[in-house]
Amino acid sequence: MENHLESYLSEQISNRRTFAIISHPDAGKTTLTEKLLLYSGKLRTAGMVRGRKGRKLAASDWMSMEQERGISITASAMQFVYKDVVINILDTPGHEDFSEDTYRTLTAADCAIMVIDAAKGVEKQTRKLFEVCRLRKIPVLTFINKMDLPGRDPLDLMDEVESALKIQSYAYNWPIGLGKQFCGVYDRFINKCLLFTRSTEGGAQRALMSQFSLEDEQVVSLIGCTEFDTLKGELTLLEAAGNTFNKEDFLGGCVTPVFFASAMTNFGIEPFFDTFIHLAPSPRGRLADVQNGKEIFIDPVTTSFSGYVFKVQSNMDRKHRDSLAFLRICSGQFEKDIVVKHHRLKRDIRLSRPHSMFAGERTVVDTAFAGDIIGVINPGSFFIGDTVSLAGGFDFKPLPQFQPEFFATLTPKDVNKRKSFDKGVRQLAEEGAIQILHGEDQFNDLIYGAVGKLQFEVLQYRLQDEYQVETRLTLLPYQCSAWIIGDETTYKKTTNSILVKDRWDKHIVLFGTQWEKEYAIRGNPTFQFIDIKY
Ligand code: G4P
Repeated sequence: MENHLESYLSEQISNRRTFAIISHPDAGKTTLTEKLLLYSGKLRTAGMVRGRKGRKLAASDWMSMEQERGISITASAMQFVYKDVVINILDTPGHEDFSEDTYRTLTAADCAIMVIDAAKGVEKQTRKLFEVCRLRKIPVLTFINKMDLPGRDPLDLMDEVESALKIQSYAYNWPIGLGKQFCGVYDRFINKCLLFTRSTEGGAQRALMSQFSLEDEQVVSLIGCTEFDTLKGELTLLEAAGNTFNKEDFLGGCVTPVFFASAMTNFGIEPFFDTFIHLAPSPRGRLADVQNGKEIFIDPVTTSFSGYVFKVQSNMDRKHRDSLAFLRICSGQFEKDIVVKHHRLKRDIRLSRPHSMFAGERTVVDTAFAGDIIGVINPGSFFIGDTVSLAGGFDFKPLPQFQPEFFATLTPKDVNKRKSFDKGVRQLAEEGAIQILHGEDQFNDLIYGAVGKLQFEVLQYRLQDEYQVETRLTLLPYQCSAWIIGDETTYKKTTNSILVKDRWDKHIVLFGTQWEKEYAIRGNPTFQFIDIKY
């Protein structure tokens, strides 16, 4: 019986892919997500998921503020099936003003797709998100998008991925023609030219694809002699001078396979997804802390149900005024109404009304497996990082904290509301919505730190909405920060920086500019400067 259950679990879990798409805004993350839904049959026509420019709402638009703005603030997850594989896409908001949630969401992913605009190369936000993937040892596939537009040289882009992100790149496919001439890709794994034709509906429907071997005479006539010679020359160069690829190196985060495509026209999309489900890992085990500072390995199949909270979202449904805690299931099987151990609270708790999400609809899930994301009703008992399990006795590693880049002071407009204000900010900080920093005095002159500026707007909105406190916010002139490790009495402070402490009394320096931070790093060689605190 036990073996039967284990093989059932193993089959379910190995058939799952839980990942995030990371990119700088406008690189094409929404378009690519939409195409994944199109090719999985979840959407009949592309163009439904987007919430930009007043069109249909983004799949994760819940909060009314998000809806008013037409952007996606909260990071959530969607589940659907692509070619018999269960896909869990974690939504990492791509807006310029992303939040700490965006980073934290990556802790729930087993793998990431990094979308790069072929004309722009590796951009700022992509770098930051990639850094989190690297630290978490999350394997990354690189998707170079917009090949139908004039862009940079493909070899140049591969070089930039290597130099900017310090990872080896391997061209898994190679573009045939660039810009207007982009008509297909050469798949270096199956050694075939894949040529595409737009459907009459453009990118809203699948592109027609034909396969040819390079020796097939039709290829020259279809792509032209010049394109053919260029392709042959580049492929020879890649074979001679390019990196090699094996799946272990990819899973270990040493190499990223690079795919050239155009999400808008669907050229290269299907082979990319097919390769993705083959390369991306199924839910992997995680290390957890047990007493005496020891660690244990939580195997996704053989350990009974366990998971951790990576995100808490309040008042997503105004009608019910409830709060949801998003759990990443790390092992075993979840069943509706399961009673689990809440490790921090040291008591049993029933996980009732679990939800999964698709395009703004919540559906109640009866069963879920390691790798899945569920939203459970949170009557205030869940904080970010909480572990729950059937067996108990361990805690998943605490979630990292990320260097805040925006700072402000905040006061209630009405002094009589001080009590509600204090309660509100304390709860929202515990929820992980904001970081509270302080000087020598723990209770006065507090500084509020955020990874994205929008977090402040969300904070003010929620204080008003949930605690009925209107607030006044003053932005402070600091642009970045770092936790420092060393003897702080010997720390040489730069002119425009200040030294404060976080909630756990760890020292953090706020800098006026990135340049100043680099200057401080050079001037304090005995200190460690930390951007992501584990
Ligand atoms: P994001 O989620 O990463 O922010 O990007 P999104 O998919 O919204 O794409 C940003 C813009 O780039 C959109 O154009 C989108 O249509 C376009 N785009 C995405 N992929 C491709 C591609 O492969 N080729 C070309 N030519 N364009 C692409 P927009 O004008 O901002 O919006 P829309 O009116 O087209 O929707």
